[in-house]
Amino acid sequence: MAEIIDGKALAEDVVAKVKTETVRLTETGVTPGLAVVIVGEDPASQVYVASKSRRAKECGFHSVQHSLPEETGEEELVALVEELNADPAIHGILVQLPLPKHIDEGRIIQTIDPDKDVDGFHFINVGRLGTGELDSAFVPCTPAGAMLMLERVRGRDLSGLSAVVIGRSNIVGKPMANLLLAANATVTIAHSRTKDLPALARTADILVAAVGRPEMIRGDWVKPGATVIDVGINRIPAPEKGEGKTRLVGDVAFAEAKENAGAITPVPGGVGPMTIAMLMANTLTSAFRKAG
Ligand code: GUN
Repeated sequence: MAEIIDGKALAEDVVAKVKTETVRLTETGVTPGLAVVIVGEDPASQVYVASKSRRAKECGFHSVQHSLPEETGEEELVALVEELNADPAIHGILVQLPLPKHIDEGRIIQTIDPDKDVDGFHFINVGRLGTGELDSAFVPCTPAGAMLMLERVRGRDLSGLSAVVIGRSNIVGKPMANLLLAANATVTIAHSRTKDLPALARTADILVAAVGRPEMIRGDWVKPGATVIDVGINRIPAPEKGEGKTRLVGDVAFAEAKENAGAITPVPGGVGPMTIAMLMANTLTSAFRKAG
């Protein structure tokens, strides 16, 4: 039976460290500042943004939230980002995605000062990560959190291990593959056009699922002893809990996969809590860099 990697507990460890370091930095006259920007009324995004702002306050940060209406224009949003770029009290800027369709997401991301881009989405940070400049890069929060969980069971050096990342998004799949490569794993990125995905998955010592399809990865796709990192968060109907009820599941069929895996992350309580914790860590890092 697999070891269950507790993301909630690990996220609390990360946040506890951030709090301690924030006290130290604040004593020198610098308080880490995080600005979170949300446009529109998407309920899931509202929940995420509220917990980011709450966590930031709990860490002792200067935390500001800009909630803009759905009909906000692109120029208006660019102007807000530029204002935050110029604000010395702000060390991290996060614009919650997705943005409404009439706004060019790429343009907004590239407007963020790369040295305040705590999401790690700006080309400069993507380039730093891709070239292995990890000391100066901001690494996207979800893959950074996933790596920390992996480190708990496999250590920092993944030499000789094969990793398969299912999913090629800019937010998770691609940066995850780069982080695994930087840790010396032999990495394959799989996606919807990959032939015989189950067979490929079965070759993985480290299997990362980031596809956004509920329980797509079955137990018999998991090599015995493999470490399984489930990045998916999917809400599905749960009639057994009552009419209209739902529950959260990952991209991995957990009950099956844990029979084969050596270690596995659960959903909920796995990678999810790590994402916000890493955002706090990135914001603190940014403030320390600024403080010199
Ligand atoms: N939407 C879903 N995940 C993320 C994230 O990590 N950052 C931002 N900015 N938006 C998101």
